[in-house]
Amino acid sequence: MGWDTDMTDRTESLDTTAVPTRRDQYRLAVVFGSVREGRFVTTVGEWFVRQAERREDVKLDVIDLVRPDEGGSGFGERIDAADAVVIVVPEYNHSFPGELKVAIDSLKPQWSAKPIGFVSYGGRGGGLRAVEQLRLVFAELHAVTVRDVVSFHNAWEVFGPDGEPVDADEAARAATALLDQLAWWATALRRAREDAPYPG
Ligand SMILES: Cc1cc2nc3c(=O)[nH]c(=O)nc-3n(C[C@H](O)[C@H](O)[C@H](O)COP(=O)(O)O)c2cc1C
Repeated sequence: MGWDTDMTDRTESLDTTAVPTRRDQYRLAVVFGSVREGRFVTTVGEWFVRQAERREDVKLDVIDLVRPDEGGSGFGERIDAADAVVIVVPEYNHSFPGELKVAIDSLKPQWSAKPIGFVSYGGRGGGLRAVEQLRLVFAELHAVTVRDVVSFHNAWEVFGPDGEPVDADEAARAATALLDQLAWWATALRRAREDAPYPG
């Protein structure tokens, strides 16, 4: 999956009551953060992608760390082109997967002055300890992590065999809150990056 990089003039976005213009659309990279054999990330990640696909303001790029260079662009180019990133992350021993750390550390300026959101899952912790550790990592990279997290505790009990959460409405509300906050940060920081290079 990729996106169209042809952006229109910024003056198109001045009417904030209208449906999103191309200028108001934000390019969202969703990173599937587990490469484990038999991984659950595809269930959680594909559900979140379906939520994002419903929105007119999101242009999606889905990055699976098993194939981060898929579609002719490298991982770095794909993150660089994103206005916002969502990491779909499980908890491993109170932290996040090592392969995700390697992927994050393989880049630097591409993360700078970008908003990062999280969809986490795991056992009793719901992946929240992994998220808290990721916030420290992304602070070092001058990225801005969004406060609200979509979190699934005992995730394998939350999703039915159809790949949908049992309480689909509550999960959809959480996804909407995250995507709304990302939209605000993505457009604000894109304008700021265009106005002046980030001093860091
Ligand atoms: C090595 C390992 C360590 C784990 N540690 C935790 C943990 O500390 N807390 C937790 O809530 N779940 C833990 N789990 C459960 C995982 O979060 C759960 O299995 C999840 O589905 C893993 O994501 P994945 O299947 O996409 O790789 C662990 C799983 C593995 C494989």
